[in-house]
Amino acid sequence: MSGKKIAKEQPDQFEFSLDNKKIIEKLLLKYPEDRKKSAVMPLLYLAQRQNNNWIPLAALRLISNILNMPYIKVYEVATFYTMYNLSPVGKYFVQVCTTTPCMIKGSGKIVDMCKKHISSKQGELNKELNSSWTEVECLGACVNAPMMQINDQYYEDLNESIAEKIFLSFKNNQLPKFGSQIGRVSSEPTNNRKTLNRNA
Ligand code: FES
Repeated sequence: MSGKKIAKEQPDQFEFSLDNKKIIEKLLLKYPEDRKKSAVMPLLYLAQRQNNNWIPLAALRLISNILNMPYIKVYEVATFYTMYNLSPVGKYFVQVCTTTPCMIKGSGKIVDMCKKHISSKQGELNKELNSSWTEVECLGACVNAPMMQINDQYYEDLNESIAEKIFLSFKNNQLPKFGSQIGRVSSEPTNNRKTLNRNA
């Protein structure tokens, strides 16, 4: 059983919006009649988008009905993948990568800043109720480690003080520019070298 946090307070019902119903109709056309269950991940994603970035259990029940699959199967998918939130997250939702390359480059200090400026425990909303954080596995931007994702954007080449500044900006309802925080273009070398040079 997953250790994912499930919200204690749950709405009784969940309905997809009209726009999302139209998207689901189109989406289901992509799958053969006996493979509709494969749409479970995009449907979970739509439910999460519609509901302030978290999925209530009522939405899992609805998806199991739409796809005609057992509720427990939908539950298993939703609890397996870290990208699905089953309890409310902040308007600023921080996911700190703590896998080896980021860890070696200091992700522990970014986690310390999360504990200091957001909440002492991951998965808990801060007292202003506008941000929360969690640790995640590799987000595929190891060359710019350490990094974190805030909502849909990557913040890379972090250090303790840069992370602190970003978290403090939440209080003013602001987010700094995403991408490399040291001005690096993509993942070019930090010394600005553009070609391989044996003698360099
Ligand atoms: S290890 Fe952090 S992005 Fe890959």
